Amino acid sequence: MSSAAQMLTPRRSLAPLKEGEDGLFTQSWFAVCLSTDVESGGFAGFDFLGGRVIVMRDSDGRASVLSAYCPHLGADLCGGEMVDGALRCPFHHWRYGPDGKCVSTGSGDPIPPTAKLFRFPTVEKYGFVFAFNGTEPSFELPDLPRAPEGLVWKVGEWNIRMPVDPWVICCNTPDMQHINVVHGITFDREPHDLVQWTDHSMLYTLQGANREGLRLEFEVGIFGTSLYWQHGELGGRWFGFVAPMGLPRPGESRLFFAVAVEDDPADPDGTRAFLDAMYDLEVHIATEDLPIVEHARFRPGTLTKSDRSLARFLQYLREFPRDHPSATFIS
Ligand code: FES
Ligand SMILES: [Fe+2]
Repeated sequence: MSSAAQMLTPRRSLAPLKEGEDGLFTQSWFAVCLSTDVESGGFAGFDFLGGRVIVMRDSDGRASVLSAYCPHLGADLCGGEMVDGALRCPFHHWRYGPDGKCVSTGSGDPIPPTAKLFRFPTVEKYGFVFAFNGTEPSFELPDLPRAPEGLVWKVGEWNIRMPVDPWVICCNTPDMQHINVVHGITFDREPHDLVQWTDHSMLYTLQGANREGLRLEFEVGIFGTSLYWQHGELGGRWFGFVAPMGLPRPGESRLFFAVAVEDDPADPDGTRAFLDAMYDLEVHIATEDLPIVEHARFRPGTLTKSDRSLARFLQYLREFPRDHPSATFIS
């Protein structure tokens, strides 16, 4: 083949599958809402995986993520109301409990055995309600290495939706070139050899300095295809940061932020100021990424030596299990 012909040969796509391709989504934990979005004994509807779910909270405060369409004739249960601890469909008043099972039909007819909503494995953590895309979780969400009772949190959702799948945002974490040139972090040594891989996570120690010359030492990582996790010290003070992502539909991410700092009862104003500063820092970092991510056509092509952790992460993504057991319930 001549060199000119070689130059015109289309490159093999190295991109991981897109979320929703072939009707499948990665089997990861996705944030569905803030914990504060649903009060005890209440419910609220959210877009998820290209469909619709409800988050219901029982009177004990336990959250359940359920498919939103009534198995009777498909009404959206978001238009219903809670009656005696069960969600009543607006159309014919069938009622559903937090486990998704129908507890009564409006007419008194016997309950058909198939009158069930899909109940996602549900966890509440860091101030968010998470649903796992699957019938059984294949991994757990990580804790921060500090006693929870000693922490204060600031939690929120970014008011901007990213026009990409969550895994594209996650690709920033193993992307050492990006961390250096966009976020201004100079590594002591590129940490490719330090990355610890499992089939559902990657973690490494980021050591270096920021643009202001401040020393950084953070543990950073990705869990599943939809959670950034970090902790370490800045200016001699510890903080933890978790950025869960939501997947309302293919090609769109919701981005949530949760910052934790250690409570100092002797200095509540200082604790609050540090918490606010770390939260603002993380929002600022996301803001640095926004104009790039918004306009990119993310397609891994010609990678170099500095991309070797990114290349491994792309392989991790390609091998990540995919499924969509709720497909016929939420759509
Ligand atoms: S559609 Fe819900 S009860 Fe009939
Ligand atoms: Fe980034």
